Amino acid sequence: MASEFPKLKLDKSMAMFEEAKRLSPGGVMGIRRPYNFVEGEYPIFIDRGYGGHIVDVDGNDYIDMLCAYGPVILGYDEKEINDAVKRQMDERGFCFSLVQPAQNQLEQAVIDLVPCAEQVIPVKTGSDATTLAVRIARGYTDRKMILRCGYHGWHDWCVENHGGVPEETLALTDEFEYGSLPALEARLEAHRGQVACVIITPVGHPLAKPVMAPPKGYLEGVKELAKRHGAVLIFDEIRTGFRAALGGAQERYGVTPDMGTFGKAMANGYAISCVAGKREIMSVCEKKVFVSSTFFPNSLEMVAALKCLEILKREDVPNSIWARGTKFLERLAKTVAASGVPATVNGIPPMPFITFEKHPEDGEKTYKARREYFYTQTIRRGIFIQPYHHWYIAHRHTDADLDKAIQTVGESLELTMKKFPIGK
Ligand SMILES: Cc1ncc(COP(=O)(O)O)c(C=O)c1O
Repeated sequence: MASEFPKLKLDKSMAMFEEAKRLSPGGVMGIRRPYNFVEGEYPIFIDRGYGGHIVDVDGNDYIDMLCAYGPVILGYDEKEINDAVKRQMDERGFCFSLVQPAQNQLEQAVIDLVPCAEQVIPVKTGSDATTLAVRIARGYTDRKMILRCGYHGWHDWCVENHGGVPEETLALTDEFEYGSLPALEARLEAHRGQVACVIITPVGHPLAKPVMAPPKGYLEGVKELAKRHGAVLIFDEIRTGFRAALGGAQERYGVTPDMGTFGKAMANGYAISCVAGKREIMSVCEKKVFVSSTFFPNSLEMVAALKCLEILKREDVPNSIWARGTKFLERLAKTVAASGVPATVNGIPPMPFITFEKHPEDGEKTYKARREYFYTQTIRRGIFIQPYHHWYIAHRHTDADLDKAIQTVGESLELTMKKFPIGK
């Protein structure tokens, strides 16, 4: 029989958070704010990471299945990558008025792996990449409207919270629901002749909702509809790139878009992303569309990406994670079913998740209370997962790490069911 673990000692994290709030509005930004976890139960400041683990500033050690929200596909403190970066730093330098050869090498490496990649533009963040991709699509089509599906970053055209964004900008973006071709068709019809691009995460992963693999024929249908309406099709592969397969979800599910955006897993945590796509479309950046930023050509991240892609390929990492994630999802499904907690196991193998659901006999907020209590138990037991965002499996998670995660989920669900039985 599982028993509740005591609250973690988080004094240093909490003191640093108080200091942070004096230094910066809200202390920490966006999805790292404490209300995105369980307030008072999760650490806020991390000291270091190793393999599949992180250690907070109070010395608590966790198996980290959030993986820095995705970039850490291998593990923390990956020596081979860090050594390559250090060599570049010591022997060549990394910030110049001109570009270094690492840029050509990286672009070729992406072209070699990604089906839609005939040309590549390296940038730094996921939001840089998605924003550049829609600008290219607008430049190519001379149209204004963007149809989007999924989280694409924090820039004006796609930010979820509309504070500080002009209505005129928002009016040029419309959203459609993942998984439904009629929903997309209706939006394309509504903006007939005006849609520059359809940008979609090839795997559906809306915040706090189940992660959805593409239904059979869905991505093919999206491609066909975009083509019929003269819109550029962009797969936002910031999460799935180099993870669902070496060539991304487009390789895994066999549908090649016009353009793709890649980031997160590309360099195991170093800040780099890119847009890759068909030459004919990308070529608008030769003259018509401007792309430039002081730090885009910095080579440390490129060297890190080159080394990371080399390791992903050499160790067949995406397939290995896919196989281990498949087993993990199966075990998770059994564990959840055995617990009787109203929750659904969902995700794709590298991105597993549990979503808590309302049982018909439950009170209005019971499922939320269950969720909060469950994540309180899992963090106290040393598993770092997120209530509103799917989890990730990293290459350096050991079998023992994954066993412990399953055991922890099982114990925490058992406690949850005892505390919040159906109908409470
Ligand atoms: C699918 C997707 N697109 C774009 C972004 C934005 O990337 P960044 O946070 O690096 O700007 C994210 C970030 O989570 C993402 O998941």
